[in-house]
Amino acid sequence: MLVTSEALPLAKTGGLGDAVSGLSRALREANVDATVFMPAYESALDAVCGLEKVADLPGLVGGDAEVWAGWVADTEIPVLLLRNDALYVRPGNPYLDADGREFADNGIRFAALAQAAKRISVGETPVRVPHVVHAHDWHAGLTPLYLHAAGVKWPKTVLTIHNLAFQGNFPLRLADQLDIPPAYRGSDGVEFWGHLNFMKAGLRYADRITTVSATYAREILTPAFGHGLDGVLGQRAHELHAIPNGIDPEVWDPSCDPYLSAHFSVLDMRGKVRNRLDMQRAFGLPADPEAPLLAMGSRLTSQKMADLAIEVFPMLLAAHPCLQIAVLGCGERGLEEALRELARRHPRNLGLHIGYDERRGHLLHAGADMLLHGSRFEPFGLTPLYSMLYGTVPIASRVGGLADSITGLQPGPDTEIGAATGILFDGDRPADMLAAVERALATFAQRQRWSVLQRNGMTRHFGWEAPAAQYVELYRMLAPVAPVGAPMVARRPETAGALAGTDIRKRA
Ligand code: ADP
Ligand code: GLC
Repeated sequence: MLVTSEALPLAKTGGLGDAVSGLSRALREANVDATVFMPAYESALDAVCGLEKVADLPGLVGGDAEVWAGWVADTEIPVLLLRNDALYVRPGNPYLDADGREFADNGIRFAALAQAAKRISVGETPVRVPHVVHAHDWHAGLTPLYLHAAGVKWPKTVLTIHNLAFQGNFPLRLADQLDIPPAYRGSDGVEFWGHLNFMKAGLRYADRITTVSATYAREILTPAFGHGLDGVLGQRAHELHAIPNGIDPEVWDPSCDPYLSAHFSVLDMRGKVRNRLDMQRAFGLPADPEAPLLAMGSRLTSQKMADLAIEVFPMLLAAHPCLQIAVLGCGERGLEEALRELARRHPRNLGLHIGYDERRGHLLHAGADMLLHGSRFEPFGLTPLYSMLYGTVPIASRVGGLADSITGLQPGPDTEIGAATGILFDGDRPADMLAAVERALATFAQRQRWSVLQRNGMTRHFGWEAPAAQYVELYRMLAPVAPVGAPMVARRPETAGALAGTDIRKRA
């Protein structure tokens, strides 16, 4: 049972949603009865079909709740939804209200998710108990603690860190209300600088910890990347596994992506030109088949070096008047405003869309020449992988998963492209980013070399099969049990026909 706050297309604010849905699909293809358990946000209720109530869960923190079962529409992925409309059906996204402020009761909302996961896992509901409970990020972090506190040895628990920067810190005084036993409240438990830390709860009590790239797994053991939890992680370093993410081909494939009006592949790149024009239109840039088109698409935060990009863009535009820049993102209000100001100053060169927009997200990768993806830290970084697959060359920081998945062009003029798929840079000064983009622009001018870079990226394989096999091996090691006959979510005969042979693309 994968306990999460996001899974595509039920709820998504970033790569967590992509990763959980890609993993669950791949696990099912590997014959694992993977079931997603998450809050019944309105968007989740809309995206799940065959819904039926399977259990009442009275007395959870935040109020009585229910468990509803169904399938991600048009897929074979079963879902259990925790239903408490007062907690989960609200305007905004899973964490923020419509004005971008964190919900004041996020501690209660996600503790309820963990309490419910624990009650399902110990057989307090009619749902068949899982062998392994796989918690994702801080939102599910209390699950291992509640199971540990219940004194049960089964099921086993795994916590995957998708981003250690987000930890879920709440006032320690909530511990009573959240039913965290006194013995778990100390610094060897959930306490973190006087707060109650959900991520730390997962790190302390999960049977195993994983994170999403080998480099990030090493980095988070150091103070520079550990966000204060490197010591806690260090104590469990021998139980920390690195398993990278993959790309879900049902969602990301330039040869049949339903968000695109023209398709293309490494064998026939003509469709990319049409996408460039669509993208220029979508971002209010002049139609131009030749101008270098640089994209940036991410959360607008300091993690993603959006502050640096804002300093670098005017310098680039001064040096390259024909350069076009398209930015898609949302995040810190100050950064959004600074980008708006830049777009006002450079209306013909900088196209901006502030907001979360799945279609533009796909178009950005399909239409651009290069993707600027600076990161001060990056657990995995799915975005540059998508760009590579869509023939858009990433310019990215040499950290975390980016260092593992992008082969950087060797420094120096006219170096051999070899196996390079992108341009990697070190450091977080504007000059570092600027120099990397300049290298990209110089290489772009050499069309022959550029197309080798593009081809290299497009032919890299980043499927979910290998990562899913690593998770299966981990699950087997933790729970060496024979599979039982009944699935966690039983399919009703009337929904089986409606689901068979359908495919997520039809929904786009
Ligand atoms: P992170 O999870 O740190 O945000 P990833 O690169 O792993 O970074 O995943 C980001 C995901 O969110 C990608 O699927 C990307 O396309 C998507 N995304 C980010 N910002 C936006 C946006 N403003 N509109 C649409 N999709 C976005
Ligand atoms: C996080 C990370 C990102 C990763 C994603 C999925 O949001 O910031 O690097 O790709 O989770 O694991």
